[in-house]
Amino acid sequence: MALQTPQHSDRNMALELVRVTEAAAIAAAQWTGRGDKNSADGAAVEAMRHAFDSVAISGTVVIGEGEMDEAPMLYIGEKVGQGGPEMDIAVDPLEGTEIVAKGAANGMAVIALADKGRFLHAPDIYMQKIAVGPGLPQGVVDIDAPTNENLRNLARAKKVDVSDLVVCLLDRPRHEQIIADCREAGARIMLIEAGDVAGCIATSRPEGGVDIYLGSGGAPEGVIAAAALRCVNAQMQCRLLFEDEDQIARALSMGITDPHRKYGIHEIAGGDVMFAATGVTTGPMLRGVLREGMGAVTHSVIMRSKSGTVRFVEAHHDFSMKTWSRA
Ligand code: FBP
Repeated sequence: MALQTPQHSDRNMALELVRVTEAAAIAAAQWTGRGDKNSADGAAVEAMRHAFDSVAISGTVVIGEGEMDEAPMLYIGEKVGQGGPEMDIAVDPLEGTEIVAKGAANGMAVIALADKGRFLHAPDIYMQKIAVGPGLPQGVVDIDAPTNENLRNLARAKKVDVSDLVVCLLDRPRHEQIIADCREAGARIMLIEAGDVAGCIATSRPEGGVDIYLGSGGAPEGVIAAAALRCVNAQMQCRLLFEDEDQIARALSMGITDPHRKYGIHEIAGGDVMFAATGVTTGPMLRGVLREGMGAVTHSVIMRSKSGTVRFVEAHHDFSMKTWSRA
């Protein structure tokens, strides 16, 4: 039997993860453009849950589909995997349910893995986020600084004008002030309909065409985005946003000690992390699932913080030879 060093098993695990996101993406893609986001999401959840059965980890879902009583699969605390190293798992079987229902860009199936206890246990509330790509001085932007100051500092660090910067945000009324501030500072903005995991990652990808991500979105998505950005040494800061006392109580019960804390990227996704995503609908980074005869073609990305490698995988699937169902 071949000797399995920890590094080998780690590398293999990254590839096993991509099988899990592929399964979820293929299942969700059956629902692309059908106007039924719940069915798309349900298909992705079920396929992802089953695909985990053959992954050699003892995984615990820490960011998932909700509490045990509200989600039948991939709920917070669920144990997944066939046994192996203990890892915490953050999943979003279908990131961008609405996008996929409409057949719009950037729907993805995503997973992130970290050593036990290293993900922020973020409740399903909003989170304020700021992210920039790799190769910039630490602290070049700060979640507490005014938008124009962040843009000025970023432009200086990138040796460009503020007018060259592209700011990505979710197109939401709550972002009106930030959008106005960006325009006043002279920067351009890229509004996205949904899918801020892809929006954050776009800051660190040449094809993303984005210099900075700003605004608020889902806290679970923030943890997953932080894991991806950690793998390429990018920067991100977050702060949980609470709408009422119940949300604060829930965060406290999940182990958050200071609800108003500013989190750095290592506090959101610490230690060794891995990230995998497969496109459901085409975006700048990933192509969506394409039907090919009796099968499909998937396009995925895998990243590991240990190596910093960003690896793209194109897979041609033959459904007649698969052991898992495709819908
Ligand atoms: P879903 O996959 O749950 O539909 O989430 C999509 C998304 O756009 C996330 O990427 C983002 O973090 C969040 O929703 C934003 O929430 P809202 O649509 O309420 O602004």
